[in-house]
Amino acid sequence: MDKAFEDYLKQFDLNNFHIKRKHIHTYRVAENCLQIADELHLSEKDKELAYQIGILHDIGRFHQFEKTNSYDDSLLDHADYGVKLLFQDGLITSFPIAKENYRIIEMAVKYHNKFAIASDLDTRTKFFCQLIRDADKIDILELSCEGIMKFYMDGVVKPNILAQVQSRSQVRINGPRTNTDNVFIQIGFFYDIYFKPTVDILFERKIIDRLKDRVKDEVACQELDRAQRYLKERFTC
Ligand SMILES: [Fe+2]
Repeated sequence: MDKAFEDYLKQFDLNNFHIKRKHIHTYRVAENCLQIADELHLSEKDKELAYQIGILHDIGRFHQFEKTNSYDDSLLDHADYGVKLLFQDGLITSFPIAKENYRIIEMAVKYHNKFAIASDLDTRTKFFCQLIRDADKIDILELSCEGIMKFYMDGVVKPNILAQVQSRSQVRINGPRTNTDNVFIQIGFFYDIYFKPTVDILFERKIIDRLKDRVKDEVACQELDRAQRYLKERFTC
């Protein structure tokens, strides 16, 4: 699987910081998928599928950057583009993946970055969509802890955004986002977590504490504390 992915990437400049950062993110997400799958005691075959979804989830990112010079999904949605590459252009056949899993992979790639997963999916497909969303969120939050993604305030949070987080909802924003918006979008991630192993990983890696250290803003820290309490209650940690 990794070899086929590396072969695909040969057309891109891996020395470019932006491309390299998605390359690294991909493997970290795939490892998160594997860890969650392992802790959920999935079969060996399903663990392999979880890893494969991790490797493929951002396959559209590289062309997105090449075409738009940005990672802005309002210009080109990288998940939809990934589905096109894999299933319309036939890229999926260069990966060692069982055909019976194509539909699951298609839906998992498509819905990994959407506000919500389609409601009409079967249980198994929905499960893998949830798994990639959790694994991806862990790494996005970790990249913010490490300063690789921006996680700082450049103004006061907008009341409608704060209200969304306070009602324990993910944040929905149309149009351009400020750095402050991004902080609260990421805090909203904690209200869209599906699995207990994900919460265990978030706590083991001290992600909420590290985000608080980084953001150094009273309102954001309060909301991070609130999110932590919510996760503890909801998943009884
Ligand atoms: Fe993505």
